[in-house]
Amino acid sequence: MNIVIIGTGYVGLVTGVGLANLGNSVDFIDLDKNKIENLSSKKITFYEPGLEEYFNNDDTFKRMSFSSDYTSIEWENIDIVFVCVQTPNNIETNSVDTKFLESAIKEINNVNNDDLVITVKSTIPPYEIEKVCENVGMDSSKLTFNPEFLREGTAVEDFFKPDRIILGGADKEKLNKLIELYSEFECEIITTDSVSSQLIKYLANTYLPLRLSFVNEATRLIDYSGGNLDDVLKGVGLDNRIGQHYFRPSPAWGGSCFPKDLVEVNNFYDHEKLNLPLISNIINSNDIHVDWTSQNIRDLYESKNLEGVILIGAAFKEDTDDLRNSPTTEVFKNLKSSIENVIIFDEIINNEDIVKFDYLESLNSSHLFVLMYPVKESTLDGLNKVIEETNSITYIPWSL
Ligand SMILES: NC(=O)c1ccc[n+]([C@@H]2O[C@H](COP(=O)([O-])OP(=O)(O)OC[C@H]3O[C@@H](n4cnc5c(N)ncnc54)[C@H](O)[C@@H]3O)[C@@H](O)[C@H]2O)c1
Repeated sequence: MNIVIIGTGYVGLVTGVGLANLGNSVDFIDLDKNKIENLSSKKITFYEPGLEEYFNNDDTFKRMSFSSDYTSIEWENIDIVFVCVQTPNNIETNSVDTKFLESAIKEINNVNNDDLVITVKSTIPPYEIEKVCENVGMDSSKLTFNPEFLREGTAVEDFFKPDRIILGGADKEKLNKLIELYSEFECEIITTDSVSSQLIKYLANTYLPLRLSFVNEATRLIDYSGGNLDDVLKGVGLDNRIGQHYFRPSPAWGGSCFPKDLVEVNNFYDHEKLNLPLISNIINSNDIHVDWTSQNIRDLYESKNLEGVILIGAAFKEDTDDLRNSPTTEVFKNLKSSIENVIIFDEIINNEDIVKFDYLESLNSSHLFVLMYPVKESTLDGLNKVIEETNSITYIPWSL
């Protein structure tokens, strides 16, 4: 099929490269000219394991084009346009910021192609898209929805082997076109109305941090009680109804999706009419866990009389360079108020505030090395060498 992808971020690029790899022709549009220039010259704009290999495959690359100009597309020949732009929180109004979505939908509304399937992949709370469409004079019942569930770090694998595909909308013919596009995928396809498709995305992104926060609260209770963390979590997780998968402690959860999606889920219902005490407290639980992790680090640093603290891993989890809502940044800010010498080490991310191995190798005193998440074997070997040579101490606020 002929596909247009609007937005070449984590979702848009992975989806487009995956679809091109499966034989579709894919035109990408992004208003960020810098990104388009890089992609046109075969340079990927973020780190995602495996993506580069697919992107640079000659047959795949030949099926893709990149532009910042909506008029460069031969819209009459396009089957499906996927809208993959960001939907961040507007900090001032504490609600979803739909300006990127609105500018994309406005451009698509100018297109003269009645058969065009317009599919929103961006995460958008129920009833928000209607307002966006109203603002640009589009009939919202024309839209279809295909919420995205890929995880940064395993996004390519998630594209080719999704757990499920969710399609929402009212126009059966347009939904059928999407079913045809995904016909080779082995998972179940759920077709539903637009609001339900949006709720599936939001409730998944509510349950996942809820589960992570449950484990983190359990971790605090186990620590308080003097129990063995690994034994207790294993003993609980082996109950089939609970399960061990995704049942592990962390310094806190973060990233580009959970924090904003949780804010949005708590924003779109009327708290006077609906009381959801569990869902409305997940963020609070996570904030408390950031403080708990920071306090543990502070206690260790002080009790062992160390020279400083080195946080290993700047992103919100392994195998990504996405710094959005990273717990490392939160812990760093917390520690900075009382410890002068706190730094962040990261091998993938280049940023003036982040140190590399050359810095660690110049250390000649004991530090506290905090592994924020698992690192590559080779990185761990290098770190262990420095830790041994400087008589430093390691703290790991997570387990697998
Ligand atoms: N990142 C994830 O892991 C993930 C997973 C599932 C769902 N989502 C959802 O998918 C959406 C996209 O997320 P992302 O992380 O890929 O975003 P991103 O910020 O990485 O990328 C968005 C891209 O859209 C471009 N853009 C903005 N307005 C545009 C316009 N009018 N026309 C063309 N391009 C435009 C931006 O320049 C940017 O490159 C969000 O709604 C997010 O909640 C993200």
